[in-house]
Amino acid sequence: MTSAVIMLGPPGAGKGTQAVRLAVELGLPHVSTGDLFRENLSNETDLGKLAKTYMEAGKLVPDDVVIDMLFGRVAADDCNGGYLLDGFPRTVAQAEALSERLADGWTTRTLQLDVPDESLVERASGRLLCKDCGNIHHEKYKAPAAEGVCDACGGELYKRADDNAETVQERLAVYHNETKPLIQYYDERGTLDVVDGSRTPDEVFNDLRGLLSVSGAPGQEVT
Ligand code: AP5
Ligand code: MG
Repeated sequence: MTSAVIMLGPPGAGKGTQAVRLAVELGLPHVSTGDLFRENLSNETDLGKLAKTYMEAGKLVPDDVVIDMLFGRVAADDCNGGYLLDGFPRTVAQAEALSERLADGWTTRTLQLDVPDESLVERASGRLLCKDCGNIHHEKYKAPAAEGVCDACGGELYKRADDNAETVQERLAVYHNETKPLIQYYDERGTLDVVDGSRTPDEVFNDLRGLLSVSGAPGQEVT
């Protein structure tokens, strides 16, 4: 069975942190729509210029634009054996487009990281990212050994433009209005598992790994 594993969760829940480790564990490519947009932003492509306004305002990039970009990415050969989605889908329209695209023989697993809103602003506003390898740190929860320097590759750390308190609040509101309905969407299709994401990254990872390695439970067909 070939699987699309979906990481769902609010901004700052730990989707990226967990997806990087899970991708290695599962041997699947990690496909993050936020990372794809940030790559386009830094390469100053037309897509990056279009996405910038939405991202900086904490709004969702329009569905057709995201779906085109995502489908282009997962058409690559490295996704033939499955992939791990981080930040997609984020609306019911995106979920439906994905479900239509997945052919017979594909299953999905949806992992929802549950973290209370009050922790999310602190997580996002303390986040530090590596300019070179994208490694995720946190000023308090995963402080780099040397200030401003990536533990993994020695690259320079930076803060995302949308990680200020005001934009995080807007991203949270958008999550509640537009993305949260996906919990019910996938629950109704029998593919949803919810994990308490408020614990340490290792504890969360162990739960996710356990859920994905349960034999005989490869997920349900998306309908
Ligand atoms: P995106 O980049 O996907 O942002 P997001 O969903 O808001 O999620 P984040 O990346 O902020 O959080 P995360 O869950 O990955 O947390 P992380 O692991 O980094 O999207 C950005 C923008 O792009 C959107 O706003 C939108 O404009 C656009 N976009 C993207 N996809 C789209 C789509 N499908 N449709 C439309 N528009 C789209 O962790 C956060 C911090 O917490 C880190 O510092 C980390 O070290 C720390 N941390 C992680 N886990 C723990 C833990 N267990 N305990 C303590 N600290 C922790
Ligand atoms: Mg992320």
